[in-house]
Formats: sequence, structure tokens, C-alpha cells
Amino acid sequence: MLPQQPGVPREPGVPEDPHTLPALQASQAPGARKTLRALLELSPAPPAEATQPLLAAAIKSAKAVLALAERKSDTILLRAGAGDHGMLLVLKVYDEAHPGQGGSVGRAGREADALLRLAQAGVCVPGLIASGERALLRRYVEGPIVRDLHWDVALARQLAEWVFRCHAALAVDMVDTAETAGADAHGLGRSWLVGDMNLGNFVLDVASGRLCGIDLGDTRVGDPMDDVGEGCMRIIGRRPGFTADRWECAVAFASCYGRLAGSVEYVLSEVPMRASASFRQMAVWRSDPFMAEVADAFPFLWDEALLSWARAKQQEPSGR
Ligand SMILES: Nc1ncnc2c1ncn2[C@@H]1O[C@H](COP(=O)(O)OP(=O)(O)OP(=O)(O)O)[C@@H](O)[C@H]1O
Ligand SMILES: [Mg+2]
Repeated sequence: MLPQQPGVPREPGVPEDPHTLPALQASQAPGARKTLRALLELSPAPPAEATQPLLAAAIKSAKAVLALAERKSDTILLRAGAGDHGMLLVLKVYDEAHPGQGGSVGRAGREADALLRLAQAGVCVPGLIASGERALLRRYVEGPIVRDLHWDVALARQLAEWVFRCHAALAVDMVDTAETAGADAHGLGRSWLVGDMNLGNFVLDVASGRLCGIDLGDTRVGDPMDDVGEGCMRIIGRRPGFTADRWECAVAFASCYGRLAGSVEYVLSEVPMRASASFRQMAVWRSDPFMAEVADAFPFLWDEALLSWARAKQQEPSGR
């Protein structure tokens, strides 16, 4: 049954008995029906006056449109409301079948918390409508995923700005939580990380023109440089990877992050170790010895990329 928020009345027309819910009956595929059932476990996100009616509409009329992911979560695009004019929402369900990194327990709660904090700080993320112990309902952000875009320096900087603002909004107080136990006192401080810098986790929102991070499912407390290093790995390695343009974009990404963080030199010097570690991890995930070779060669290749960046900068005194 739909959990009631204190003081929030049940939306008129929402049945009490989950088994009679039209959304569940209308849904075609048994897999989608099972995923949609998670709607019943959700509580509206704050402010509940705004999100409760949307959750109620989803429960009443959601139809599964498309499976978006099934590797780390069951994520479906659904339409709530009448006909083609209904609202597009994304339901993400974590369970034991999708352990992800570090298991499913607490993931939905951590992701919901991060999305709310980022939205509050004005960082572009999908609006959270509802969440529960193992699932979240978010607005759909319409636009191309960043992985599929043509990469240039401007896009790399947009990503760096989003990641920096994310870390600033989710920074953790070094003394307050058990999560930070063992944290080192140097560097740029600790923060909740994106945790998965896969370029499919960022969408260029057509409505606002802003870059939007849509997946915080792997967030954990850590060193922000891990996200920066993984970001470089993703930019360089994504097909068509390892081109001069991609290396330039990775340097632009790290430099822009460094400028925002107040230390370009520190950030650029941290990239080789972090990106090498990410390539090494990718080599294991994909059983790809080439990735392991790149991991070994990365410090040398990074120095080369920095040199050609510096040379290009000298030739363009108006600056990059
Ligand atoms: N709110 C959203 N707006 C637009 N697209 C979304 C949204 N949520 C998810 N998607 C799309 O669905 C895909 C999968 O969603 P998400 O990344 O949250 O799930 P995941 O379990 O982490 O999957 P993956 O293993 O693909 O990263 C995204 O890469 C993106 O293309
Ligand atoms: Mg994802």
C-alpha cells in the first residue's frame, strides 16, 4: 500500500488495494509489471504537496514505455497521465539481482539524498518525485546523453563544472561521520562522489541547455580526484577513443576542474594515478588487455598530452 506522509491526504481516485491498481493491470510485460509494483513502496519527495500528486498519477496510470537499464538496476521509462500527453518519468529499482558496486542495500536512499541536495544547491539533476528503500522515481530529462555527443573542449568544461559543483554541494565534514573514518587531510577534501563517471550518466537537457547528471546510484564518500581521474579515463577511452581530440578534452576537463578547485597543478598531477587505476579496473571488467597496457602507459601519455596542450596554448595567447 502507498505509504502516507503525515498530513498529506491520499490523492482522490487512488485505490487502497495495490492489486487493483490500473497501472499494474495495464502494463503488458510481466517484467515491467514487477518493476512498476515498486511504485507502491515509495514516499513522496519533499516538497510532498508538489510530488504526492505526481506519485499518485504514476500509481494510477503509469505505462511502461521502455527499459532503460537492467544491469545495475531495473530502470524503466514510464508515462503517467492521459495518452501521449502524459508525463515521462523514470523508475529505478535496485534489488539483489543487481548488486552493483558494494551491494544494493541503502543505494536508493543514498541516491535520493544526493539528488535532493544537488537540486537544492542548483546543480542540474532530474527532479526527485519519490523514493523508498529500494527504488526511486525521477523526472525524465529529455536530451542526448553526453556519451553520444561530439566531444570538444567546451563540452569537457561543462562536464568539469557539473562535477565540481556536485562535489562542492556534497562535501562532507571531515569530523562528523563514520563514513569519513580514515580520510586523509590533504587534497581538496572529501565528498560524496559521482562514483560512476560513465558518460551515459550525463544528459544535455534540451529544455535548459544545461548538462545534467542523472545517475548517483554509486555515490560514496571519497576523494573527488577519483571522479576526475575516472572522468579522464571515460573521455579518452570512449569510442572513437584515444584520439588527439580526446586527450585534449581530458586535459581541458581536468584543467577546468582544477581552476574551479583553485589548484590546476594539483589536479593535473593527480590524474595519472587515478586514471591509470580506472583503466586497470576497466581492463578487469572487460577482460581487455589493451586497457591494462593503457593503464601502464598512462603517466607517459598524460605528460605528452599536457605538453601538446601547453604548446597549443602558447600559439593561442588569447588562452584556452
Ligand atoms: N531521469 C532520466 N532522464 C533521462 N534519461 C535517463 C534518466 N534516468 C535514466 N536515464 C537513461 O537511462 C540510463 C540508465 O539509467 P541509470 O544510469 O540511472 O541506471 P543504471 O542502473 O546506473 O544503469 P547503467 O548501468 O546503464 O549506468 C541512463 O544511461 C540514461 O540514458
Ligand atoms: Mg548509470
